[in-house]
Amino acid sequence: VTEPDLAGRHVVVSAGGTREPLDPVRFLGNRSSGKQGYALARTAAARGARVTLIAANTALPDPAGVDVVRVGTAVELREAVLRAAAGADAVVMAAAVADFRPAVYAAGKIKKKDDQDPEPIALVRNPDILAEVAAGRARPGQVVVGFAAETDDVLANGRAKLKRKGCDLLVVNEVGERKTFGAEENEAVVLGADGSETPVPHGPKEALAETVWDLVADRFR
Ligand code: PMT
Repeated sequence: VTEPDLAGRHVVVSAGGTREPLDPVRFLGNRSSGKQGYALARTAAARGARVTLIAANTALPDPAGVDVVRVGTAVELREAVLRAAAGADAVVMAAAVADFRPAVYAAGKIKKKDDQDPEPIALVRNPDILAEVAAGRARPGQVVVGFAAETDDVLANGRAKLKRKGCDLLVVNEVGERKTFGAEENEAVVLGADGSETPVPHGPKEALAETVWDLVADRFR
């Protein structure tokens, strides 16, 4: 039996991966399926929370009892997260957000020209949503959680990212072409701004989600 230890709390979870369009046909994207974020949304709802799930380009069914907001780009994700975060007790950013987007959107399909080299793609920076939410906490005591998707020097990069982003907790997980993205399972270390380190062994994404909510619930007390 799940304890309703998040009853009366409103939590916001982002999931999936942003897509940054180049033209009506193509985009720059990433391998996130949304499964980790959806596991966070389901487990929070089971523990009694009111859950707003902001889903970027996922192909998963809406979890029962969860408000789902669908977005495409990082800019759209930012708007939806900031709106929902205004009244939230916790914000968990599990979405994989593009750091950059194409500087120009071509209204018509970009054409291949014979005997001409391809044009380089110019990029501009996307807003850092997690850093913005952490810097401008919508209410005192709001708990802000980020994820760090790393391929190397996982813990060292995670620690640096925790400081840079200013969040309370950072879930550090290793990713690769066939690792974590789209999988049913994950393993991670959850770093706390207070210096704590909580290792979560390889197991279902729900198990990692439960640990994240345990740590969030500790910070509500
Ligand atoms: O969706 P799955 O297939 O289940 O895979 C899960 C996952 C690997 C996507 C997930 O566990 C994960 O690690 N999500 C975060 C991916 C990511 O964007 O990591 P990052 O290290 O690039 O970003 C760090 C943090 O800043 C993240 O919380 C991210 O949401 C946030 N961010 C990043 C860039 C940006 N412009 N704005 C942000 O808010």
